[in-house]
This record gives sequence, structure tokens and C-alpha cells, in this order.
Amino acid sequence: MVKAVRFSYILVFVAFICSLAPSSLFPQTDTSQKDYHFTTDWFSGLEPLWAEVLHEYIGKPDVNYLEVGVYEGRSAIWMLENVLTHATAHMTAVDIFPDEREEIFIKNLETAGARDKVTVIKGFSQEELRKLPFNAYDIIYIDASHVAKDVFVDIAYSWYLLKEGGVLIFDDYLLNKSEPFALRPQISIEAFLTAFIHSIELIHRGRQVMVRKVQNPCHPEHDCTPIEEYLYLWNSKRLVQKKDLSEVSLSKTERRLFEKFLNSRQFGRIKYTPDQELINETEFHMLCHRLNFNMSRLLTENVLDLWQKGEEV
Ligand SMILES: C[S@@+](CC[C@H](N)C(=O)[O-])C[C@H]1O[C@@H](n2cnc3c(N)ncnc32)[C@H](O)[C@@H]1O
Repeated sequence: MVKAVRFSYILVFVAFICSLAPSSLFPQTDTSQKDYHFTTDWFSGLEPLWAEVLHEYIGKPDVNYLEVGVYEGRSAIWMLENVLTHATAHMTAVDIFPDEREEIFIKNLETAGARDKVTVIKGFSQEELRKLPFNAYDIIYIDASHVAKDVFVDIAYSWYLLKEGGVLIFDDYLLNKSEPFALRPQISIEAFLTAFIHSIELIHRGRQVMVRKVQNPCHPEHDCTPIEEYLYLWNSKRLVQKKDLSEVSLSKTERRLFEKFLNSRQFGRIKYTPDQELINETEFHMLCHRLNFNMSRLLTENVLDLWQKGEEV
């Protein structure tokens, strides 16, 4: 009896705490509460990941979101209900809208009470994205055509539309793995990760890839690789401190080992993958120690990819 009373006190207490908690702690609205019309679902299961990655934007004024490929709006409605909740938040939705998808999308926006927050653009993303303003979007989700050449172009345009500090999300990273590269998104996403590696932070690699746009610490960038607190300048073969460009001396052997290490990144990868011979070099160890390198950070993709929130690579 006493135990039952105690238990009911605990329940009341938990309910009270939940009623006080800010909505951002429990940001996911159950879209089934409203009378939406959806015939497919490519989004369910991703909500916890999106809520975590986009947490900083929830309920904030003026958040500007671009979704490339919206279909009936399942992911778009989730964004409107869970992230773009401030009256001044805005979405731009680009889609070719086959058959009656545009009407369904707009009806769903009306059901959400968010029609006014969304600019709808009907057309091919490869033609429409180039008309949008540069450095204007906080979050961009690329989920239109999944053919490599289209993803490639969508990424290139989107990059310049994204603000510094903004988040870029790609869907279906490893879609159609048994098909040739030209028919799937992976090669374009990995080409992007490889080419823009100095201007991104990888947030997540799973069914989706998520990156943040950051400032490249190399100026000029053509001759330079940033690593930890340093910049390596390839033409002059000098290692300098990022903070004041002061030179760090390297012996001939150290320089050779260091360059080998910098070249050990695989295509599409963020982490370094030095071969066993380099790993076993005492001089290499000592150099890394002298430079105060965080090797566990450099040798692993320290992102949310093992995070198991609804997806696996
Ligand atoms: C997978 S669906 C988007 C799903 C949506 N993001 C969601 O999670 O609910 C892909 C959409 O991209 C659109 N699409 C395909 N190729 C396109 C292109 N080249 N330009 C614009 N939209 C395109 C399709 O019409 C379709 O609506």
C-alpha cells in the first residue's frame, strides 16, 4: 500500500517535471495527429537524428531552410512542426512535382497551418537552384534526383546558397549499391567531401551525410593543408602554426613522413589512414607527439556514424 502511494507520487512528480520542460527537449510532434495526406514515407526513423543535429535552430527566428525534393512534404512538414516553429522561420521547397504531388504538398502545408511560411518552386533543381540567393540558407536538404550527375550539380549549387555555419544534409548516401556509380549518389557526395574537406565539418555519415560549412583556415587555399593547429604549405614545404604562421622546424625525414601522413586520406574520407609502415616509424611517433596531435581524432571519423539512431552505414 505504502509502495503504491509512493509510486503514484513519483508519477505525479514526473508528469509535473515534463509539463515544465521546454518543448525543445521533446521536439518531435506526432504528425499523425493532423489529417495529412502521405502515400509514402522516406523520412520516419530519421527524426531523432534531425532533432539532435538541428537542435540549435529549433524555434529560432529567421531560420531559412531549403529543401530540394519535397514530394508530398513528409520531411518538410516535420521541419515546419519541429524546427521552423518561429513565426519568422521560412522554407523554400523545390520539386518537379510529378502528377498531382504539388496539390498534395500544398494541401499538407495548409493542414500544418504553414502555407505562408513556404515558397514553392516547381521545376528542375538544376535550373532553379541557380536563381536563389547566395549565402542565404541555414539548412539545406538535398533529396531530389538520386542519379550521380544530378546530385553533383545540386551539391555544387547548394554549397554557395548555404551560409557559413549552416548545415547541409544529403539523403540516400549509399542507395543502390549494386548499381554502377553513375546511378547513385555516393560518388558525388564523396567527391564533395574530398574536394571541400577544408571547408566542412562532418557531422554524420550514415544513411544520410550531414556536414557543417566552416571557414577554410588556409589563405590562399591552393597550396595548403590544415591539420590540427597547423597548416602545411606544399610549395615551400613549410609547417606553420595556424594562429600566427610561425614556422615549426622539420627534418628532412620528418617532412617526408609528414607528407606521407597527409596523403593517407582515402577518397571521400575525413580520417587519415596511414599504412602500417608509417605507423611503426619511431620518428613519426615522436613527431606526432612533438606536434601534440590527437591521433584518435585524426585516425577515426569522430562523428555520429556509430550512433545507431535509426540508421546504419
Ligand atoms: C525522395 S522524394 C523527396 C522526399 C521528401 N524529401 C521526404 O522526405 O518526404 C524525391 C523528390 O525529388 C523530386 N525530384 C526528382 N528529381 C528532381 C529534379 N531534378 N529537380 C527537382 N526535383 C526533383 C521528385 O519529384 C520527388 O518529389
